[in-house]
Amino acid sequence: MGLEREIEKAAAILRAGGLVAFPTETVYGLGADAANPQAVRKIFIAKGRPQDHPVIVHLPDSSHLEHWAEEISPAARALAKRFWPGPLTLILRRAKRVSDAVSGGQDTVGLRVPAHPVAQALLKAFASGIAAPSANRFGRVSPTLAEHVRGELGAQVDMVLDGGPCPVGIESTIVDMSSAHPALLRPGKITAVEIEAVLGTALYRFGPESPRVPGALTSHYAPRTPLLLAQDLAKCVKSLCAQNKRVAVLAHHSRPVDSLDVIWQAAPAQAADYARELYARLRELDKTGCDVIVVEEPPSGEEWAAVRDRLSKAAINKV
Ligand code: TXA
Ligand code: MG
Repeated sequence: MGLEREIEKAAAILRAGGLVAFPTETVYGLGADAANPQAVRKIFIAKGRPQDHPVIVHLPDSSHLEHWAEEISPAARALAKRFWPGPLTLILRRAKRVSDAVSGGQDTVGLRVPAHPVAQALLKAFASGIAAPSANRFGRVSPTLAEHVRGELGAQVDMVLDGGPCPVGIESTIVDMSSAHPALLRPGKITAVEIEAVLGTALYRFGPESPRVPGALTSHYAPRTPLLLAQDLAKCVKSLCAQNKRVAVLAHHSRPVDSLDVIWQAAPAQAADYARELYARLRELDKTGCDVIVVEEPPSGEEWAAVRDRLSKAAINKV
């Protein structure tokens, strides 16, 4: 089937209240008609996700903003203008028509205009909001390939649109613009500093120990195998091997000669490349049957903030 026909079929499934998984530039989403609460509820069942977690509504473009949100501040509009289409989600006061199924019963709604050409084509064809969380089982690593979705949710989804690997690889930056105090709820490729440059004010930043939104639980984004973040990689691996643990490593450098008994992956040196590959690598390491995944702590610095956030949420230890 050509892409155009596939998009038409996907839009028809959404109109009929079905579920369509689709690629965005960040991760694959599990989509349903945002205006159909019954369809949205199917998402929660497929994911095994608690009903009180709000989902992001994806829009074809910013002209749809007023349909879903109210009291949109000039600052929020400035962010939409600068970063949409792109990997930014804005939390705004919800319009009355937004159902509790979408908002999780909160008086706000998360909105985003994705840039991925397949997501754009689907949204243009559907011509309304598509509610979509990441297309993974609740609490698991987000999918960055269509085969991740098929493997994890296959039977529960009516259609999976394949757009190849997601170019960003980690979920969108979330900024709460629903009050007078803009806050960063989830770091992402678009950094807090870039957002602050548009706002002209500082963002309130929640630490990892203060989850603000349902879904920002610290146990999120985790592989099945326990994941340890290591400041001193060599020391950590050595002590685990001494306990006869089978170890899989995601490091910043290639394998040292004295570590032949551990599974070793060298991660990309640039933050953007690291982020793009992170979830696929965690899924691979998860499949090796090791006892523990050890990830070398990423560098400090603003461009690594989102990667550090996801890894610290996936880790069983907090460094
Ligand atoms: O990149 C992304 O954002 C991907 C793609 C598919 O767009 N979506 C995604 O959705 O990561 P999800 O549901 O896995 O994560 C969305 C996060 C959750 O932590 C949820 O609690 C939060 O956004 N969220 C959604 N609506 C919200 C609201 N009204 N207020 C506060 N947080 C909200
Ligand atoms: Mg998710």
